[in-house]
Amino acid sequence: MTITSAPIRWGVIGTGRIVDSVVGDLHLIPEEVTLQAIASRTPERAKEAAGKYGFATSHGSYGDLIDDPDVDAIYIANTHPQHKVVALAAIAAGKPILVEKAFTATLAGTQEVIDAARAANVFCMEAMWTRFQPAVRALHEVVNSGELGEIRSVQGDLCAFRGYDPTDRLFEISLGGGAVLDLGVYPISFAQDFLGTSTTVIAHGTHYENGADAEMGMLVTYDDGRFATLAAALRTPGPGRMVVMGTQGWAEVPPRFHHPTAALIHPLDGESREIRPEVQGRGYGYEFLEVNRCIREGLTESPIMPLDDTLEVMRQMQAALDQIGSPVVEDDNVQL
Ligand SMILES: NC(=O)c1ccc[n+]([C@@H]2O[C@H](COP(=O)([O-])OP(=O)(O)OC[C@H]3O[C@@H](n4cnc5c(N)ncnc54)[C@H](OP(=O)(O)O)[C@@H]3O)[C@@H](O)[C@H]2O)c1
Repeated sequence: MTITSAPIRWGVIGTGRIVDSVVGDLHLIPEEVTLQAIASRTPERAKEAAGKYGFATSHGSYGDLIDDPDVDAIYIANTHPQHKVVALAAIAAGKPILVEKAFTATLAGTQEVIDAARAANVFCMEAMWTRFQPAVRALHEVVNSGELGEIRSVQGDLCAFRGYDPTDRLFEISLGGGAVLDLGVYPISFAQDFLGTSTTVIAHGTHYENGADAEMGMLVTYDDGRFATLAAALRTPGPGRMVVMGTQGWAEVPPRFHHPTAALIHPLDGESREIRPEVQGRGYGYEFLEVNRCIREGLTESPIMPLDDTLEVMRQMQAALDQIGSPVVEDDNVQL
């Protein structure tokens, strides 16, 4: 596709809570993003969302949005087990995609989408907004400078108490409910970002009465002895903090680490300091700016959130789900 410096016309699949959170930040970058279209399975809901959020048009099916010639790029923001079908259709239509976390509900589904995107040479990225937060980028610069020495381990959690409601997508099995896919994806992706591809995953967890995972603790190991200890839970509140430990010092990304405002640096031989970069809006705009940049530069993957990383994160989540005995979810439960 040919995209000039004009704003990229985005289409959004889904009308749920995340869309409500993201659109405010997209209005902050009008020179980059045009809110072109929003789609719902229900035409009335799509129309209502278009009016509420300021989209130029609405579609009463996901397929119609994918086929809309005025949509340049698509943000897939329905429930995890529905991402795969929509992503494959968008890729077949040649449209660049930004796919909400969890990328899919299964490792096989993630592999299928990645294979299709690569075969078609279509841009594809997981919407792991944490990687693009200014404080996380700043921490990478510190790590890359060597100031903390060799990074040996990562530790942390994303726990958030949510009252059990088996009809909510956070808990409903067919909608990908459970702590691992909804929250575990963040600490797992954060650790993967700093440690790379792991060797083994050892997970322990508990479940709600419908089978959705409620709590998960895991040890991720590497051939050379490095490791990560991570936790996620919907049953208990927790700080939502990450710590990165190196041979010459350590760093903390304070709560809530998945959209942090600061990084704290503690060198072994120096003064501790805080890095507090400015954050635009709630921090959702950065991932869209990255997709736009990649599209304009002709890239089919982001170097900051490459598909191999998404695959490795999904591999770890699938291992955790299998080990703790979570029910198997299909990746196909949506009509286009
Ligand atoms: N990055 C973040 O900070 C963040 C935060 C929250 C969620 N997320 C991700 O965004 C995705 C959506 O989460 P959400 O919190 O927005 O969920 P939600 O409020 O439950 O909305 C889910 C959307 O999916 C669509 N959908 C299609 N089939 C559905 C079904 N059978 N039941 C319910 N909804 C269905 C609905 O759109 P229509 O009915 O309009 O078609 C609905 O708007 C998830 O993958 C989640 O992990 C990301």
